[in-house]
Amino acid sequence: MLYSNLNINEKGHLTIGGLDAEDLAAEFGTPLYFMDEEMLRVNCRTYVDAMHRYFGPEAAPLYASKALCFKGVYPVIESEGMYADVVSPGEIYTALAAGFPAEKLFFHGTNKTDEDIRYGVSSGVGCFVVDNANELRSLERIAGELGTKQKILLRLTVGLDPHTLEAINTGRVDSQFGVPIDTGQADGFVREALACENVEVAGFHSHVGSQIFESDSFNRQVEILAEYAAKLRDETGFVIRELNIGGGLGVRYTEQDPLLDIPERIAEIAAHLKTTCERLGLDIPRVFMEPGRSIVANAGVTLYTTGGTKEVRGYRNYVTVDGGMTDNPRYALYKSEYTVLNASRMNDAADYECTIAGRCCESGDRIAEYVRIAEPERGDIIAVLTTGAYNYSMASNYNRVPRPAMVMLSGGKARLVVRRESFEDIIKNEI
Ligand code: LLP
Repeated sequence: MLYSNLNINEKGHLTIGGLDAEDLAAEFGTPLYFMDEEMLRVNCRTYVDAMHRYFGPEAAPLYASKALCFKGVYPVIESEGMYADVVSPGEIYTALAAGFPAEKLFFHGTNKTDEDIRYGVSSGVGCFVVDNANELRSLERIAGELGTKQKILLRLTVGLDPHTLEAINTGRVDSQFGVPIDTGQADGFVREALACENVEVAGFHSHVGSQIFESDSFNRQVEILAEYAAKLRDETGFVIRELNIGGGLGVRYTEQDPLLDIPERIAEIAAHLKTTCERLGLDIPRVFMEPGRSIVANAGVTLYTTGGTKEVRGYRNYVTVDGGMTDNPRYALYKSEYTVLNASRMNDAADYECTIAGRCCESGDRIAEYVRIAEPERGDIIAVLTTGAYNYSMASNYNRVPRPAMVMLSGGKARLVVRRESFEDIIKNEI
């Protein structure tokens, strides 16, 4: 099976972390998000250990909260030695409500309002990743008003398209995130930041993309950033102390996806940074990475109850589930592929080709198309794997569907970490 925490028990049911998927569904209801804390911890440790080994003991991974943000994730990542990136006051609020230390938060966001900036500075957020000059000016003013000097990284665009490398210096320069190096605009941005009194520039941030398997883009990214840092040092005397190279390492949604060796990839990036810095006579900065997907994706499974099958003769078979795009909009948005199992009939041949359709009145409400599972009967439990990232965090109440509950398996027991939304929750802000 795709992951080591999945198995089949004597009833022919799927087990996740040793727990029977049918029992979980019976106890907590469906749709249900399931998170395996041990998998989450293993993923954190993989990054922490590899980053320490290859970049040095000061290096640290930040967990990209956007992948899955709820209070219960923060004690886990904190105890594993991770920092966290947050992109909104809502994410800051959640992390702080969970007791996560503000100084370990890096505050992203392409349009931080003055209110957001004030909230971030006064909450004691450790570092702002400043996206543009407008934000810089507001931050300089607000930090001054609050009597603090705010540590910042400047977000730069390196002009790399990780999925079409030949498009280097074209596609990704045109981005709403950060300030491009290629167009020469980064020069003015950095100089303006260096002249500020109430911010302290620690270095640069850049993020090249998500679900990336090949190493070229990260190698090119650190090379471009180090070269740019050397150019600035020569021109201004400013030396970067920190370099945040973003997230983006890919995960395995289906058997067709490669299995990425994260430590090996980190070793490659570190070696590349080292050679480049040596060539440029630059001290190796403190490195941060921002993995989101590769921390939580494979720790998550979604369980649904099927309403049964529907054959559209001459076309295809549909299997309906009691959730869909409301709890996982990724197929509707990106045509992302998933591995789907009939958790109730794991010993039956997976030979029923079908499209998994959700409950919304929308033909795009699909979780997967043309997948093969054991032919289900109404009431069977359908499991969709690798749903830990960008599912709950992107869920909606479309068609007034309540968001599912989430349970976390810790120490052999599943405990409720997010309650299922009620209809009252859905109307609670309506006057
Ligand atoms: N850092 C920054 C600045 C980012 O923008 C992102 C993701 C990450 C870190 C984490 O990247 P990861 O390690 O998770 O690939 N909703 C999409 C993914 C959007 C990713 C946006 N930025 C999806 O469902 O695939």
